[in-house]
Amino acid sequence: MTATAAPPTLWLDSPTQYGRISRILHWSMALLFLWQFTGMVLKVTLGLHPRDSWLLGTHAHVGFVLMVLMVLRAIWAIANIHRRPSYGTGFLARCASLGHAALYLLMLLVPLSALVRSWASGRGFNLFNTIPVLSPGTATPAIGQFINGTRETLGASIHGLLGWLLLLIIVGHIGMVILHHWVWKDGTLHKMLGRKA
Ligand code: HEM
Ligand code: HEM
Repeated sequence: MTATAAPPTLWLDSPTQYGRISRILHWSMALLFLWQFTGMVLKVTLGLHPRDSWLLGTHAHVGFVLMVLMVLRAIWAIANIHRRPSYGTGFLARCASLGHAALYLLMLLVPLSALVRSWASGRGFNLFNTIPVLSPGTATPAIGQFINGTRETLGASIHGLLGWLLLLIIVGHIGMVILHHWVWKDGTLHKMLGRKA
């Protein structure tokens, strides 16, 4: 018995649905974001510290993996730009495209701001405590202070603020998907589940 290989078009995006690569990237990253935000919500609500919890101790490492996946995803999105489902025209279509652009921008800025802070503090960063990404060095206080903000003015770090903003936009994104799929019944969710919209 011979196994039939999937046609290459299933891996690429098409005007009616996102292809396998886009879907794998979308759903695996959604799971990793769930991990990140569950940890951070527990940190602020229960006061957990990275030393006390495995969920929080993995935060920087999972965050770095997400940044790498985000770069690959952006390259894949650009390569498929003329193939993937179009946003259409009108106000809602414009909002959807702006919303996705904001998600992409924050998916990059959130981990990047944390890495710049690690570099500026001179702490360095070892991925999974083995692969050196940033070597420890001299602290650069001016940048570190800018990225951290001050408790009096911003009340939290730029990384934290952007992180919570990202969560807010993700909640809006999921809300819109629910509206599209269950209220307007236009098959939006099918595009990301591999069925024709
Ligand atoms: C896309 C990936 C990431 C997301 C969504 C994310 C999100 C967050 C959020 C929401 C907070 C909570 C801030 C608060 O306490 O109010 C936080 C804190 C923190 N993150 Fe991330 N983060 C990511 C990547 C990273 C990376 C790559 C690093 C390190 C290189 C990192 C290091 C930290 C540290 C040390 C804190 C605790 C200190 C602080 O409040 O800023 N994060 N993160
Ligand atoms: C339960 C969670 C989620 C559901 C049900 C969901 C559903 C969807 C659906 C149905 C689409 C296609 C929309 C369209 O083309 O009109 C989509 C696209 C998209 N989603 Fe989500 N999503 C979820 C979580 C996330 C998360 C956590 C992120 C990122 C932080 C995200 C980022 C995006 C982006 C950037 C797109 C545009 C297509 C792409 O470039 O991948 N989604 N999502």
